[in-house]
Formats: sequence, structure tokens, C-alpha cells
Amino acid sequence: DRSIKIAPSILAADFANFGAECAAAEAEGADWIHVDVMDGHFVPNISFGPSTCAAIRPHIKGVMDVHLMIAPVDPYIDAFADAGADILTAHIEAGPHIHRTVQAIRGADVKAGVALNPGTPASAVEDLLDSIDLICVMTVNPGFGGQKFIDLTAKIRALRKMIGDRPVHIEIDGGVDATTAPLVAKAGADVLVAGSAVFRGGSVTNPAPYGENIRAI
Ligand code: DX5
Ligand code: ZN
Repeated sequence: DRSIKIAPSILAADFANFGAECAAAEAEGADWIHVDVMDGHFVPNISFGPSTCAAIRPHIKGVMDVHLMIAPVDPYIDAFADAGADILTAHIEAGPHIHRTVQAIRGADVKAGVALNPGTPASAVEDLLDSIDLICVMTVNPGFGGQKFIDLTAKIRALRKMIGDRPVHIEIDGGVDATTAPLVAKAGADVLVAGSAVFRGGSVTNPAPYGENIRAI
């Protein structure tokens, strides 16, 4: 179903060749590039920050979809906006003032996303639906790629109902592959993040598997 966008996560890519990996993934059919920022505080892992986002920006023709797994978020919004992020997604669990955060993101002329950990109910975003552009539904506990998919299709259906005809994406993040993708697409998701399912078996010098993997999803 091609109305679904595929957003490969570079967390699963070659950390020594991010620019080339982004270009290869796009050349092989990626719709967005999902950039997983981790601070070792909100999640038990450290990935990369604004400088890496700025470095890969020129290698991404399409949407740079930045997933901020950091706390606090607000002090870093401008740095990621200046780095060229098209979307900045903050975790609702990262602090007490999510509405202020999404206002600051939109204030920086960047699209605003809110991410929900598996244990956070859909109702947590019901008062944000007119202030955001995307809801990222975590279907793994954030921090690592390659984890097992947590089935949250009921939550996705509830969100799609709450959103109604508002222009709000539902992005699914974690454990998405050829088996789980149809489940979440049917439940109402329209953007699928995939790290290991896209980058496995390929490399910068052999990116063809990226295309096969994307088409399989
Ligand atoms: C996890 C990240 C996800 C992850 C997806 O904290 O937010 O984007 O990289 O990787 P896979 O698709 O391998 O689960
Ligand atoms: Zn992510």
C-alpha cells in the first residue's frame, strides 16, 4: 500500500558513513529518513546530536524526521531546527510541559511530533491534536533497534479515531517489518519507521538490499 510512507531509521545504519547511508536509503525508495537522537538519560543509550543532524542534512533530499529521545527537550530545539530537521518529535514523558515544547518546535518553523512510549495511553495526546503534525507510537521501549514488536494496534485505532480529519500523521516506531507493517497500516498508521528491517543485509557499497527490504514492507 504505497500511501504508506517508509522512514528508515539510521540507528541501524553504518555509523561511520551516515551521509552515504541516507543517500543510499533514499535512492532505494525511502520516503523519509528517521534520525534517532538518544542522550543516555531519557533512554539507556547514546547515539548522536545536532552536529550529526547538520552533517547528514545535505545528504537527505526529502524529510529529515528527528526523533528526540532526550530530556529535557526545550534547550535543544533551536539547535536541531538550525541543523535542518523538518520534523522534531518530543516524548510526552520527557517533561511536565509538552504543550510548551510543541509550541516552541512550531515556533522554530519545524513540524511538531509527540512520541508515546508503549505504556503511555492514547488519551495523553487528546488535548494536543490541534497543535501537532505527527504522533509517534513507540512499539518497542525506546533506546535500541532490533527489538521485538509490541502489539499496540488498539491504541493506533483509538488515535486514528481521535484525530478524525485533522492532518496528523500516525508514525509507528519499533519492530516494524513485513509481518507487523500490515497490522499497523490496517489500524490507521501512515508512516512506518524501520531500522533493522531496512538496513539489514546491505551496506553503503551494496545498498540494493535496502530497496528490496523497503518494498517488502
Ligand atoms: C528506538 C528507535 C527506533 C528504532 C527502530 O528507540 O526510536 O526508531 O531505531 O529500529 P527497529 O526498526 O530495528 O526496531
Ligand atoms: Zn525512533
